[in-house]
Amino acid sequence: MKIGLFYGSSTCYTEIVAEKIQAFIGEELVDIYNIKDSGLSKINDYDILIFGISTWDYGELQEDWGNLWDEVSGLSVNNKIVAIFGLGDQEGYGEWFIDAVGMLHDEIQPQAPIFIGQWPIEGYQFTESKALAEDKKHFLGLAIDEDSQYEMSDERIEQWCLQILQEIQDKI
Ligand SMILES: Cc1cc2nc3c(=O)[nH]c(=O)nc-3n(C[C@H](O)[C@H](O)[C@H](O)COP(=O)(O)O)c2cc1C
Repeated sequence: MKIGLFYGSSTCYTEIVAEKIQAFIGEELVDIYNIKDSGLSKINDYDILIFGISTWDYGELQEDWGNLWDEVSGLSVNNKIVAIFGLGDQEGYGEWFIDAVGMLHDEIQPQAPIFIGQWPIEGYQFTESKALAEDKKHFLGLAIDEDSQYEMSDERIEQWCLQILQEIQDKI
């Protein structure tokens, strides 16, 4: 089992979370790529993917994801297992909390990946988010808030890693 983790990060917060996920799951299992340098082509090498994305400027995509957006809808992720995590700020930007997670999810959904890693909304306070699952009780991926709830991040990352590892095991 090899996992490819692809992230975009403007001020390094998503990058740090990516590195923590890699460290927790194991460096031998997870390869990480900053899409600013590597682009998205290596996605083809993996059957299991983790995507990391932050939200900027009132519900906009992180810049590097935005620059590669034309490629995203055409990604060959059919039947690949995909988990998404997102960084945002629920206090400062609670009307757009981790919107980019929802935008990325919706953009690749037509390619029919197998999504894993939904995360409960309990413990977060926000007004609106495009990252809500249909049940409105989960985000479509892990939500990390280094601005308003940084003290909860490590525990959330670890719990989510355990959860997705279990989900991966159930699917393969
Ligand atoms: C100008 C500005 C706009 C932001 N807009 C949003 C937003 O619309 N929604 C959100 O959830 N977070 C927003 N944030 C918070 C960032 O997503 C958060 O700081 C994140 O940790 C940045 O991650 P990165 O450094 O990996 O890009 C914004 C932050 C700044 C400074």
